[in-house]
Amino acid sequence: MAVLKVFDPFVICLLCLILSASNFCNGGITSSFVRKEYSPDMPLDSDVFQVPPGYNAPQQVHITQGDADGRGVIISWITPDEPGSNTVLYWSENSKHKNRADGTFVRYKFFNYTSGYIHHCTINKLEYNTKYFYEVGIGNTTRQFWLITPPRAGPDVPYTFGLIGDLGQTHDSNVTLTHYESNPKKGETVLFLGDLSYSNDYPYHDNVRWDTWGRFVERNAAYQPWIWTAGNHELDFAPELGETTPFKPYTHRYYVPYESSHSTSPLWYSIKRASAYIFVLSSYSAYE
Ligand SMILES: *[C@@H]1O[C@H](CO)[C@@H](O)[C@H](O)[C@H]1NC(C)=O
Ligand SMILES: *[C@@H]1O[C@H](CO)[C@@H](O)[C@H](O)[C@H]1NC(C)=O
Ligand SMILES: *[C@@H]1O[C@H](CO)[C@@H](O)[C@H](O)[C@H]1NC(C)=O
Repeated sequence: MAVLKVFDPFVICLLCLILSASNFCNGGITSSFVRKEYSPDMPLDSDVFQVPPGYNAPQQVHITQGDADGRGVIISWITPDEPGSNTVLYWSENSKHKNRADGTFVRYKFFNYTSGYIHHCTINKLEYNTKYFYEVGIGNTTRQFWLITPPRAGPDVPYTFGLIGDLGQTHDSNVTLTHYESNPKKGETVLFLGDLSYSNDYPYHDNVRWDTWGRFVERNAAYQPWIWTAGNHELDFAPELGETTPFKPYTHRYYVPYESSHSTSPLWYSIKRASAYIFVLSSYSAYE
């Protein structure tokens, strides 16, 4: 749907894989939109990077599929000042009864950057095709979002995926996201083809740009799953900074349901969603 700035050989390769695997789909050509070649990063004080109000308010909220066939969801968010609560409250549109699920949080350091408290909570056994509301945070600073579960997976189940890769955080990245959101085909899930924040382009891989990116995409990624793949910009392999664990920021921030396909690594896994059987492979995994 929104396939942009596809200069990266990795992305092209992955796209070919996806396209060749989808002989039976016919989404047609949905747009002739082509992005310009260069656009500067949005400044730190941009509206899209605003920190939500309230002490320790959850930010960078995003969801992804949480199991093998679409009844599970992983909800992730970051609290900046203290751990706060790991709990997600959730209820279906047709019910007042609030369920709860408890997650965990992780943190990491990268050179002289220390992350906030990165929460991940998996909710299982949701009903198919149902709208749920969910709430994260505690006390005065709770935030509410919603999501819609997919239909039961099967061979002939209409569903609309968006494709976005190489997003970054330039002014054009914002146009790209707006373009996806306003597409009349109404994408229900994003297949993200790798290269998220481009924070590694900054001196010391300034991880603050991972946080701004998380706040930027929240407006979509909190409401529909983004299925993550790592690209070369997620490597963050920087021996000169003493950082020799590849994919450290990415794997702490973006949990994926790799265990549900009995994978041994978050860099490769598979899921079923509606009529698609999705295989995620990272061609940079040899660094592991
Ligand atoms: C990003 O796009 C949104 C929606 O079109 C707009 O409201 C916002 O002002 C834009 N921000 C920047 C920094 O371009
Ligand atoms: C990290 O180190 C760089 C280079 O010395 C410096 O410019 C930056 O302000 C430091 N950041 C933090 C969070 O200390
Ligand atoms: C919640 O907000 C109210 C009104 O702003 C304030 O009086 C109260 O102290 C806050 N409670 C907490 C736990 O922050």
